[in-house]
Amino acid sequence: FPIKHPAQEKWSFAGPFGHYDKGQLQRGLKVYTEVCSACHSMNLVSFRTLEGLGYSDGQVKTFAANYEVQDGPNAEGEMFTRKALPSDHFPAPFPNKEAAAAANNGAAPPDFSLIAKARGIERGFPQFLIDMIPIVGGYQEGGPDYIHALLNGYQDPPEGVEVAEGTHYNPYFANAQALAMAKPLSDDQVTYDDGSPQTVEQYSHDVAAFLMWAAEPHLEERKRTGFMVMIFLLIFTGLIYLTKKSVYSNKE
Ligand code: HEM
Repeated sequence: FPIKHPAQEKWSFAGPFGHYDKGQLQRGLKVYTEVCSACHSMNLVSFRTLEGLGYSDGQVKTFAANYEVQDGPNAEGEMFTRKALPSDHFPAPFPNKEAAAAANNGAAPPDFSLIAKARGIERGFPQFLIDMIPIVGGYQEGGPDYIHALLNGYQDPPEGVEVAEGTHYNPYFANAQALAMAKPLSDDQVTYDDGSPQTVEQYSHDVAAFLMWAAEPHLEERKRTGFMVMIFLLIFTGLIYLTKKSVYSNKE
């Protein structure tokens, strides 16, 4: 049974003029915090950056204050916990990789900071193409496609296929036929207050878009810069051509 390739989904951030849908990112954050963050860390993302999702300073402060982080040592040389500040990063659910693996049947849940990009590359998109693609408006969405396919891909194993104990059959899993993560999402699990459908399909789109943002928070600026570079090159080519014509006009 070969590994299935994820279907190409529609993403608002695709193409040369693509941009993030902030409502979707906010929903994706909700799915991450209420479901995925029980197992997956996001070590490189600080609360402060959530302003990119359209939240105000105050909202970010309130959001961060829901978390406790380790700090110290204090004047007495002791470690202590305190409410998180916007400058703190999302705290990890497990103290280290060994503890994470021990709690999950021997497979540590990967960190989410760059997962949307890491999985896109693993699935056959060479790095130099990934780097160029925002400029030419090509296909950069392999990671979110994969995350979406994986979350929707849980099914009974086909006849004759045995999966190891503690693993779950999923033909989209990139490394094997079954993975240590049980189906994490079900319909109506997360409450949306903007009227979006509360389905696994919608949750997985939203959380995949959020993870793309976490991995590439400056995607829109990069696309804009890339586009301006192309315009500049076009004008510059014209100028060079005219210069060449004028410099060599009497040399024929
Ligand atoms: C692996 C997504 C919730 C435990 C993964 C992978 C992704 C993912 C993309 C990587 C698969 C790969 O290596 O190609 C998500 C999302 C979640 C979620 C989007 C929330 C909606 C959870 C929860 C748990 C969990 C709640 C724990 C109860 C794991 C484990 C692995 C994993 C143990 C490693 C699997 C293996 O290598 O066999 N998850 N996850 N995940 N996840 Fe999750």
